[in-house]
Amino acid sequence: MTITIKGLTKSFDDTPVLRGIDLTVRDGELLALLGPSGSGKTTLLRIIAGLEWPDAGQLVVAGEDWLALSAQQRRIGFVFQHYALFPHMTVRDNIAFGLSVRPRAARPGNAEIAQTVDELLNLLQIEHLADRHPAQLSGGQRQRVALGRALAIRPSVLLLDEPFGALDAAIRRDLRRWLREVHEKTGSTTIFVTHDQEEAFELADRVVVMGDGEILQIGTADDLYDAPACPFVARFMGAVVELPVNISDGRATARGLDASALPVTSAPDGPGRLFLRPDSIALIPDPASPWQLSRKISTGADLRLTLLGPEGQEIPVDLPRRSAPPVEISQTYRLRPSVGALFSDDAAGAAATPIRLSA
Ligand SMILES: Nc1ncnc2c1ncn2[C@@H]1O[C@H](COP(=O)(O)OP(=O)(O)OP(=O)(O)O)[C@@H](O)[C@H]1O
Ligand SMILES: [Mg+2]
Repeated sequence: MTITIKGLTKSFDDTPVLRGIDLTVRDGELLALLGPSGSGKTTLLRIIAGLEWPDAGQLVVAGEDWLALSAQQRRIGFVFQHYALFPHMTVRDNIAFGLSVRPRAARPGNAEIAQTVDELLNLLQIEHLADRHPAQLSGGQRQRVALGRALAIRPSVLLLDEPFGALDAAIRRDLRRWLREVHEKTGSTTIFVTHDQEEAFELADRVVVMGDGEILQIGTADDLYDAPACPFVARFMGAVVELPVNISDGRATARGLDASALPVTSAPDGPGRLFLRPDSIALIPDPASPWQLSRKISTGADLRLTLLGPEGQEIPVDLPRRSAPPVEISQTYRLRPSVGALFSDDAAGAAATPIRLSA
């Protein structure tokens, strides 16, 4: 089922929450929606599910206008951010729920429902839990049951709104791998909401970054990492070092900065901002540089360094401890980034025209 969204807008009490969303989700794709809290991820999912209606725009799924259909008619599988199973029902009955409440004419026979539930229990690796109640399950097991319940109706589209949000990191990692496998077996077109970038990249074919009701960029992990479309995405992707620079002939220049490893861009001459990740900056000893090493901490794997800049600003630099050249407190170093994103101040202010910069 291909999902095509065009010009979708939504306001609550005159506050715009979605400001013109254009998005195509390919048939069978697992797409992650990534963005900070309040950026409109859940609202977009609820509109696709038919739990909320947009003010304007189109939602077409497999050629059909979904805005003309009720939530029931859309056959969506939805696992919510804060999902509650029915506490008085067993796992088996929870999974069967969506099938057993169908109107008589559309309801499968009891034997067929039982078979579907058995298949799902097997797929989700929770056969041994079939007769338990939700209170007798761990958080991760409950999320599997919630997913089983969403899958039981053979959904045309599967929507997952931070389904693992409440679980601890190790369990999330297991469930992620397992969800990927389930997706490969079922082939449902799936939208997965998260605000954890690692989760988004590990799971998804493509990632959509949302900020303040807009789609800022769509791409693979490599696209977003190497060529963030705007400062917001650059920061969101961990480029937390921001250097004020001068752009001349497409290159960033500043005292103590050696940008020679970065490709030339089409950025216009003038003031700009260079976004860097702490782990992609090499330090070259240079007595003429204003950047001075002020702090050095080892985590075993990495050296976490702090450099003090010409205007008193501090930036973090991370080096792999075993392969890092020796560095010493109070010495001065030139910054030599291997990857970076350069935006002219106009673009940085408006978060508009991207100036791409990637090897
Ligand atoms: N029913 C509603 N009435 C009024 N405002 C709402 C309603 N639902 C959502 N909002 C507002 O819309 C904005 C987007 O909310 P939404 O739940 O879509 O964000 P989100 O990206 O899912 O955030 P989170 O990561 O915290 O779940 C927020 O500012 C929220 O307060
Ligand atoms: Mg949400």
